[in-house]
Amino acid sequence: MRLLITGGLGFIGSNLVRYLLETHPDYEIINLDAETYAGHRENLADVDKNPKYKLVVGRVEDEKLVDEIVSGKKFGTIDGIINLAAESHVDRSISDPFVFVKSNVMGTHVLLDAAFRHGLKAGASQPYKPEDYTIKYVQVSTDEVYGSLGPEGLFTEETPLQPNSPYSASKASADMLCRAYFHTYGMPTVITRCSNNYGPYQHPEKLIPLFITNLLKGEKVPVYGDGLNVRDWLQVEDHCSAIDLAFHKGVPGEVYNVGGHNERTNMYITKLIISELGKGEEMIKYVQDRLGHDRRYAIDSSKIQKELGWKPKHTFETGIRATIKWYTENTEWVNTVSTPHKEAVRELAKTTH
Ligand SMILES: NC(=O)c1ccc[n+]([C@@H]2O[C@H](COP(=O)([O-])OP(=O)(O)OC[C@H]3O[C@@H](n4cnc5c(N)ncnc54)[C@H](O)[C@@H]3O)[C@@H](O)[C@H]2O)c1
Repeated sequence: MRLLITGGLGFIGSNLVRYLLETHPDYEIINLDAETYAGHRENLADVDKNPKYKLVVGRVEDEKLVDEIVSGKKFGTIDGIINLAAESHVDRSISDPFVFVKSNVMGTHVLLDAAFRHGLKAGASQPYKPEDYTIKYVQVSTDEVYGSLGPEGLFTEETPLQPNSPYSASKASADMLCRAYFHTYGMPTVITRCSNNYGPYQHPEKLIPLFITNLLKGEKVPVYGDGLNVRDWLQVEDHCSAIDLAFHKGVPGEVYNVGGHNERTNMYITKLIISELGKGEEMIKYVQDRLGHDRRYAIDSSKIQKELGWKPKHTFETGIRATIKWYTENTEWVNTVSTPHKEAVRELAKTTH
């Protein structure tokens, strides 16, 4: 099998590439990534020399490049696409929504279109069915498309989509395109919607790595509003196993929610990290709440558990401690990926080439 993974230099993507190479050593993995501020070759330095792994630096909304890969001209026949490439930071989507639409919506459409044109078997007749295609497509989406929950209840796959930020709106739009390609062209698309991930290689702009790295530097941690927003946390390796199952066993046209049943307030996480690092609560700095900040997310993942046999391996308490340890032991990685100089050089390169 040869799989195209997009966004494989990011947090979840790099964990997924590593997971797939380990779980399916005979698979070839092509990683298409734009190397934005969130994508780092350092995240996959350990597999860089693996002959089964190939990196292509480019954008998912680049029709010509995507066509060369998906048609098989560049590396040979592609059997599946798992799309993780996205602008993923809600705060950035509030200050600059345009790039979210380009990468998350246009990019998804370019991939779907290429999979349709190159995946449809010769001689297939309309209406097309999933078995008429040679390429399976998995869209890695988010529980944020469901909007905000009250104090009770869980998001199920039937919960209406009510995205509240430009980020979640762009992800919901991409999901709708995947749904439309299944219903209109019979394409074997599958959508996964996951809760908040944590674990190694997450960019230090996100809550858990930001708080760990700030505290390690002796800096305070910024808590939005009253700190009582609730998120459902999942260790990234458990997300990778869910994506792997969705690709191999997921039923075309279906959506699978993925979550760890680990609902925690931001304040609980903040205090846990502070105490694990031996600091005091004076390290908390309350800051003005994020615009449109969703109050609570919690996910019902019984469908993927019952129908595909998915089971998370990590408990929150052991996973979070291992994560704190990882960031404590990998300060060099943190410095490399957060160097403003590196970002500035890349931005300059984009404008001069
Ligand atoms: N992190 C989470 O908690 C979480 C939860 C649920 C779903 N997701 C989804 O999972 C996916 C991966 O999230 P992440 O946290 O790893 O994000 P990330 O920001 O760490 O990584 C995104 C990667 O995509 C690449 N990228 C961005 N725009 C691109 C483009 N136009 N073309 C090609 N590559 C591009 C970046 O360079 C980066 O390597 C996203 O689609 C996100 O919406 C994330």
